[in-house]
Amino acid sequence: MERFKALKDADPEIFSSHLKELDKQNNSLHMIPSDNIASPAVLEALSIPAQNRYAEGYPGKRYYGGQEFIDEIETAAIERAKKLFGAEHVNVQPYSGSTANQAIYFALMDLHDTFLGMTLSHGGHLTHGHFVNFSGKHYNAVQYGVRKDDELIDFDQVRRLALENKPKIIQAGYTAYPRIIDFKRFREICDDVGAYFFIDMSHFAGLVAGGAYPSPMPFADVVMTTTHKTLRGPRGAIILCKQELAEKIDKAVFPGLQGGPHEHTIAAKAVCFKEAVEPEFKDYAHQIVKNCKVLENIKNNFRLVSGGTDSHLLLIDLQQKLTGKEAEKALDESGIIVNKNTIPFDIRKPFDPSGIRLGTPTLTSRGMKEGEMKLVSDLIIRVLSNHNNAEVKQDVRKQVIELCAKFPVYPELSRN
Ligand SMILES: Cc1ncc(COP(=O)(O)O)c(C=O)c1O
Repeated sequence: MERFKALKDADPEIFSSHLKELDKQNNSLHMIPSDNIASPAVLEALSIPAQNRYAEGYPGKRYYGGQEFIDEIETAAIERAKKLFGAEHVNVQPYSGSTANQAIYFALMDLHDTFLGMTLSHGGHLTHGHFVNFSGKHYNAVQYGVRKDDELIDFDQVRRLALENKPKIIQAGYTAYPRIIDFKRFREICDDVGAYFFIDMSHFAGLVAGGAYPSPMPFADVVMTTTHKTLRGPRGAIILCKQELAEKIDKAVFPGLQGGPHEHTIAAKAVCFKEAVEPEFKDYAHQIVKNCKVLENIKNNFRLVSGGTDSHLLLIDLQQKLTGKEAEKALDESGIIVNKNTIPFDIRKPFDPSGIRLGTPTLTSRGMKEGEMKLVSDLIIRVLSNHNNAEVKQDVRKQVIELCAKFPVYPELSRN
């Protein structure tokens, strides 16, 4: 069967947009560190007819009949995730990282209780207590950050805020923090003040699965990860926790927050966990970090926040030579997709901050290695140093297209 033939026949408009998006993914260097390329098997699982079923409840305890094969899918996903991360209990139903975080707060706190999270401008996520988000509106979110001198987590501040505010939860794991997190130090502070330790490993879960980043599991009470970032799975999330919190977490996800689970997505999560225990995934995870280390070359021309990276992402401080918005636009025009980002203690506004954030999961999924990364870092430096020069951007665009042609995205998908 030709892939997407029914879609092409039934809806040429959406099919055409899909082709344009596929071409864009093929002909650009996607370096947004939260993006990735799911495997063809994950993509196929996302279109299985399990999507047709309502299955409110959990395996063996559903509100609808005829669920034996749906239960098989969800149980496989749970067992595989437990094995992959060494977790006592896993809930695979969260629709996304944001709803999963909401479920965790809902399970472990009452309305207006206090928790400690990293401020957005220093690398935290909106759901870690930002004032525009439910997490900052429904709870008393006390925010910590990084130190000014080395841009690493300010543990003195975390400890002081924990002692002063006695939070129910202390949260770690971020959106824009390039370094390894000292989970043990957080655990000690949690024990001192009687807080739950919640780690949002969305960004680095694939690295944990492949042994390229320390596992938070031995230190945490509860861990959340999205499944679509470094893990290379479908869009969605899972919650991993100690057995003693299992009932609270499950009840918070359903019936507390969500309705029918997306069982086709859960099938795709199961496929992703199966792929992530394979030895090749270990190589992949280590390659992501090796590739990112090559990008540290950029520091010869622009300052890197915290001086570099231990992970899949880095943050460039453009040092007022150009703004984050200008850098994002110039790179986009050259075929390199990144996102503007605040840097810690930024003097500019979030819509046009002083930095950009970029990473290597997508390029590594395409098969690129250190040699290609050296070229990519040179291209980035060239564009950032000549952001108003159309000729330079055109030349870089040409080199990007040549490089991309050697590493196609989904070569098996029909392009006409
Ligand atoms: C650390 C972290 N947590 C949670 C989320 C939210 O995930 P989602 O976009 O699936 O709601 C993100 C997304 O970028 C994230 O980076």
